[in-house]
Amino acid sequence: MRLDRFLSNRPALNRLDARLHLAQGHVRVNGSPVLDGRYEVRLFDRVELLDELLQAGKPARYFMLHKPVGYVSATQHPDHPTVIDLLDEQDKADLHLSGRLDLNTSGLMLITNDGLWSRRLTLPSNKLPKVYYVETADPIQPEYITTFAAGLYFEFEDLTTMPAQLDILGERHARLTLVEGRYHQVKRMFGHFRNQVMHLHRESIGPIMLDPALAPGEYRALTEAEIACGLPN
Ligand code: URA
Repeated sequence: MRLDRFLSNRPALNRLDARLHLAQGHVRVNGSPVLDGRYEVRLFDRVELLDELLQAGKPARYFMLHKPVGYVSATQHPDHPTVIDLLDEQDKADLHLSGRLDLNTSGLMLITNDGLWSRRLTLPSNKLPKVYYVETADPIQPEYITTFAAGLYFEFEDLTTMPAQLDILGERHARLTLVEGRYHQVKRMFGHFRNQVMHLHRESIGPIMLDPALAPGEYRALTEAEIACGLPN
């Protein structure tokens, strides 16, 4: 919500009061005066008017989880345990998943209470590379490389996938780098060649790599550097 609106929503303040307080530098956000009423107040901001605390600001929280196979990328599910069940944290209802993985996919999941951060991370225009390790039922042919690089037409969405990089590691295993996240994208890309994906594991999202110290089901807080990759320069 805009700061001017946030202020004038207070029972003791009207719009004119709010404007005057702003103009006189009476309003501080995270310790610094803010004069511009268009400032977007976030849940995490500490907002003060003179010596009155209007909002304490919640701590922003960011985690990486090693998602195991068999867990749903959702906050609740009637039939399966969810990745949120794996977190031993307070206020889990505030947390959301920044991107999803299929039930039988393992690997890096990012979880946060910062909606702006996860929106930036998942914004298609940011083209953050997501790297997947893939094992298939049948041999992976060299022609897949050019087909994936050219993009595949997905009829359901009526779109052509963005260029993807395939590195063939062995007869039935490869590393695939995507810059978008369409529904079941990896499985559908291999499905184009009628080659079933038997095992799928996300290794990284942009510069954030799944910490090899995390066993399936374990998680840790992101470091400052990892968090910074979702923020503007
Ligand atoms: N592509 C898929 O097919 N499944 C995933 O879980 C992620 C990407």
